[in-house]
Amino acid sequence: MIILVKALVTTSLKYTAEIVSMARKIAYNLNIQFVHRGNFSLADLEEKFDTSGILVVSKDRFYVYIQGEDFFFHPGMAKMRIKGLKNGNNDQMISAMNLKSGDSVLDCTVGLGSDAVVANYVVGNDGKVTGLESNSLIAYVVREGIKEYENPSFTLTMAVKGIEVINADHRLFLKEIPDKSFDVVYFDPMFREPVYKSSGMMPLRKLANYDPIDINSVNEACRVAKKRVVIKERSNSDEFHRLGCIGTVAGKKSPIAYGYIAVGGDDN
Ligand SMILES: C[S@@+](CC[C@H](N)C(=O)[O-])C[C@H]1O[C@@H](n2cnc3c(N)ncnc32)[C@H](O)[C@@H]1O
Repeated sequence: MIILVKALVTTSLKYTAEIVSMARKIAYNLNIQFVHRGNFSLADLEEKFDTSGILVVSKDRFYVYIQGEDFFFHPGMAKMRIKGLKNGNNDQMISAMNLKSGDSVLDCTVGLGSDAVVANYVVGNDGKVTGLESNSLIAYVVREGIKEYENPSFTLTMAVKGIEVINADHRLFLKEIPDKSFDVVYFDPMFREPVYKSSGMMPLRKLANYDPIDINSVNEACRVAKKRVVIKERSNSDEFHRLGCIGTVAGKKSPIAYGYIAVGGDDN
């Protein structure tokens, strides 16, 4: 497990003994320091403790504060993508995965979880999506956000529910699991420069792990996947070649593409 040395846990400005006790417990479980909020602003705490993220525990939600921005779970673009799929449109990630109802997916870079939500919509109740995230604050907030998530749209709520988020580095996790544990293994590494400057992604960019995907992880992913390993990158990226992709799926003018390696003999 990756431990954020400089992270903190605190409470909202309004807190009860119960919230403090919950925050202390979370800090203990995450191996992160708990700090009493008192009347301090989050910016003050950030400066005083020179942190790289403060997990804030309040009555009704968890979020991470970092450099003036709040990171919390929301399905982001997943809502539009699911609407598109419902209307019979193609989704490039889903096509690259050749994903079907009932499949299992290991998302090795779950981040905010938008891709995981779209995959979970497609695999449905008979399938399973598991997400790995190396940053313990991101993993915590996304896992709890998924548990608490409710939306007037039953379809969206169901697409979010049931995704399992594990705080783990995929480089270690992949080595530990048996051959053919998942139908599809997926990687979406951080781009140094954002392709779309979506406001929802900005706090994530400040917290995230920027290490490139290593070839050993892709080799392990090929052992672990029954059908496909899929990697998201810029359309013109050399990474597809470096990591051994045999094909890519991309929209005509899209700056993003999905490279894939078909590992199963029968790819249906
Ligand atoms: C581009 S974001 C993923 C966005 C995600 N696909 C979505 O739809 O929200 C990449 C995420 O992977 C995480 N990450 C990077 N390297 C990792 C690793 N070795 N193991 C687990 N997570 C990793 C980063 O911290 C970041 O949160």
